Amino acid sequence: MTLLLEMKNVHKRYPGVHALKGISFSLRAGELHALVGENGAGKSTLVKALGGVVAPDEGEILIRGNSARWSGPGDAIRAGVGIIHQELSLAPHLTVAENIYLGREPKRGPFIDGRKLADDATRLVEGFGVGIDVKRRAGTLSPGEQQLVEIAKAISQNVSILAMDEPTSSLSARETEQLFRVIAGLRASGTGIIYISHHLEEVFLLADRISVLRDGEMAGSADAKELTPERVVSLMVGRRIEALYPRTFRDPGDVLLDVRGLSRTGVLEDVSFTLRSGEILGVAGLVGSGRTELARCLVGLDPFDGGEIAVEGTPFTPRSPGDALDRGIVLVPEDRKRQGLFLNRTIRDNTIAMRLLQGLRKGPFVDRPASESLAGSFVQRLGVRCRNVFDSVFSLSGGNQQKVAIAKGLAVSPKILILDEPTRGVDVGAKAEIHQIMNDLAAQGMGILMISSDLPEVLGMSDAVLVFRDGRRVARFPRGEGAQGTLGERVMTAATGGIANA
Ligand SMILES: Nc1ncnc2c1ncn2[C@@H]1O[C@H](COP(=O)(O)OP(=O)(O)O)[C@@H](O)[C@H]1O
Ligand SMILES: [Mg+2]
Repeated sequence: MTLLLEMKNVHKRYPGVHALKGISFSLRAGELHALVGENGAGKSTLVKALGGVVAPDEGEILIRGNSARWSGPGDAIRAGVGIIHQELSLAPHLTVAENIYLGREPKRGPFIDGRKLADDATRLVEGFGVGIDVKRRAGTLSPGEQQLVEIAKAISQNVSILAMDEPTSSLSARETEQLFRVIAGLRASGTGIIYISHHLEEVFLLADRISVLRDGEMAGSADAKELTPERVVSLMVGRRIEALYPRTFRDPGDVLLDVRGLSRTGVLEDVSFTLRSGEILGVAGLVGSGRTELARCLVGLDPFDGGEIAVEGTPFTPRSPGDALDRGIVLVPEDRKRQGLFLNRTIRDNTIAMRLLQGLRKGPFVDRPASESLAGSFVQRLGVRCRNVFDSVFSLSGGNQQKVAIAKGLAVSPKILILDEPTRGVDVGAKAEIHQIMNDLAAQGMGILMISSDLPEVLGMSDAVLVFRDGRRVARFPRGEGAQGTLGERVMTAATGGIANA
């Protein structure tokens, strides 16, 4: 395949920071080359150097074999290099069409041909299968729509190299799908794509090649099929995964939950496992593999039509979350914004929402002092960053919202906690704090079922990993069975339909 781009020994220094330390990087036609690394690793600087936004201090950039010396982004675009920067850059007061053709509007005599402008823009945007009215002002678009408009703009400039700096961080699931379709089309037409993302799932879905930056250096680069998420994470952080997670493992205690042959037609089939006191069971699998359904059956949100559940040795058929709560089982759902929390209510109201079912009342009224001190104690224990318990949950960051969702569950003192994607959409710092909380809860004897699509998290936090596929529990891997790298591969293989171990 044609080599579109070659960067050789590129250095970039900012005052006090050596942001790129001799980076070499290449891109072929039709290839998607993912660039990953922790915050500050130098990813954005690399694409800025490529796009003529910053000038490298040393080294060489070759475009189709020709040395490129940009004096600004315009030069890069003329050479066929388009960059979608992390900070979106449309002019908010201009329309979509005006933004796309800014500075190169079609003319009729001395005037801008407004009709051709709109027609061209519409054709371009529609080529994406996205319904954006090109006469709208860019400032009124969602971040996802703005992103797609920026891509349309780059494509209209006939770029053959397109770099996207964290394109999906502000996109909805639907917009992400649209973006992936656009990317597939671009690759098919030979465009080379540099794709920066924190989402390793996405990276492994899309990438032909993956390069990992760490502290301005190239920590590793290989074909995606030669890498695993675990390997990429360890290249990113430069340490082994175990060192990243705060888990202190002990021998688990008594069986809290015993699930035998649980089935629900079309959803779950013959699922068996046990969860012990002090244990964290990771539940891995692809989206739709039955993991969330299992959680819903366990807390009585959905009925099951086969199998048995026992809690501490006593049979249990949950008919509602209230039943589950009575037996000490609580679910913190995946979609905290829609199912888990009342966003426009206070931290206090959310924390006590379930606890109210168990009392916390004075006569017919909520016991206010008790509920405030309860909420206050959780804010402190879980390190929720807020002014006080009367802040609305809406005003909190994703990580702190998730802590409130966990507080709401913990307020009823469960023995068994089911966490569905506990750290999705949460920043790195809060994620580490949530892991610490989980470790402490397990140390105090709670049994935790942790559904997660974050493979390093599953490997780093779990006593054992259950793998689900097509509604079945296809594997159970105890911790430390083989090196972590191999375990990660075995989990992925089982989840995606490779050979299962029973
Ligand atoms: N304009 C700038 N001035 C000074 N330092 C910068 C500037 N831009 C980035 N840096 C520094 O360069 C390093 C790499 O940053 P960046 O390329 O943005 O990383 P990433 O995109 O991987 O998060 C960081 O230490 C960052 O603080
Ligand atoms: Mg960046």
